[in-house]
Amino acid sequence: MVQTEFNPESIDENGSVSLELPSGGGAIITRVNGDLIAFSAKCPHAAGDFREGEIHRGRAYCPVHQWKFDLVTGRCMGDENYRIKKYPIQIVNGFIVLDI
Ligand code: FES
Repeated sequence: MVQTEFNPESIDENGSVSLELPSGGGAIITRVNGDLIAFSAKCPHAAGDFREGEIHRGRAYCPVHQWKFDLVTGRCMGDENYRIKKYPIQIVNGFIVLDI
């Protein structure tokens, strides 16, 4: 479990925040169609960092090869064999906690 400093209301529709994970690497939290979504910042293709790309309208754009991923399904929109790693979210005492 990773406690964050973010409360759910601080993340607007299509807005995003990122954080460093204690285990290394990063995670991104965004909101799509009203739902919070958390996922690994590491691209499943060749380890690009989504924190350096764009998160927009439910999609994450990798900065390395510009592949795009659907954040609801997690799938790469060009090759469904690639999926982002999503993390379950809980709200504990008003803050977002990632189940990692
Ligand atoms: S490393 Fe992300 S698309 Fe290639």
